Amino acid sequence: MVYRDEIELDAVIEWIYSNEPSSLELLSSWKQFLKEHPSDLHSIKKIDLSGDIPILTDHDGRKLSIDFINNAQNYNKKKGSMKTELISKALGSGRLGHSVLDLSAGLGIDSIFLSQLGYKVTAVERNPVLFLALDTAQKKLSDRQKENLQFEFASAKNFLIFSEKIFDVIYFDPMFPEKKKSALPRQEMVMFRHLVGSDDDAKDVVETAIKLKRAKRVVVKRPIKAPLLLERPQNQVEGKLIRFDVYGVNL
Ligand SMILES: C[S@@+](CC[C@H](N)C(=O)[O-])C[C@H]1O[C@@H](n2cnc3c(N)ncnc32)[C@H](O)[C@@H]1O
Repeated sequence: MVYRDEIELDAVIEWIYSNEPSSLELLSSWKQFLKEHPSDLHSIKKIDLSGDIPILTDHDGRKLSIDFINNAQNYNKKKGSMKTELISKALGSGRLGHSVLDLSAGLGIDSIFLSQLGYKVTAVERNPVLFLALDTAQKKLSDRQKENLQFEFASAKNFLIFSEKIFDVIYFDPMFPEKKKSALPRQEMVMFRHLVGSDDDAKDVVETAIKLKRAKRVVVKRPIKAPLLLERPQNQVEGKLIRFDVYGVNL
């Protein structure tokens, strides 16, 4: 169901909020944003804006929230360095530069990890509710952390076409249609999948990223056994469950 106005939006989602100014402010900004950017919200039953971090609940009672500060399992892996982490090796271990465009912010797990390793990350998300949750969580980071991690609401292709910005590396982690093992707790992953669906335009995004030369390298994360999204990567960096396909861009 895609709603058209606030009354329909209220009919789809049950809002929970308190009379605290911060909660009322979040309520009004979330509603305004969701009215301006209608999307399919049928999987969400409630959005709780009464606490420090918004909590989404689906019709089966599963919960999803993005909390960079308190959810250490997802967001503070406290390991590795730019030189040693697999994802960073695929990005060039900092040798190509430190600015990264992440075209698939999702729950922000990779984005924040990269920023913690020392990269300056701009992460793009096209799902309005996820973007709101990411942006709300980002605002709670320290000023220094905020400088190195920013979220943009856009489709990857539009961002590539219309933003004039040049980055050192582009990173892309589209949803894989088949079941894949994930570091996320299962319930959270099920709800996440229902919310974002599958990313059927992934190949087009990679082709556009390479063609427009907005970075020196384009890195695509895939399950280890998944077919290539695009033929002839220059390199592949492999882990146990995932791999990174590396495409060079001649600037
Ligand atoms: C597999 S998840 C990414 C998970 C993310 N790497 C993380 O660590 O949390 C894919 C996310 O990218 C977003 N996405 C996929 N294709 C996109 C596109 N073309 N434009 C914008 N966002 C996209 C989806 O909405 C989804 O939230």
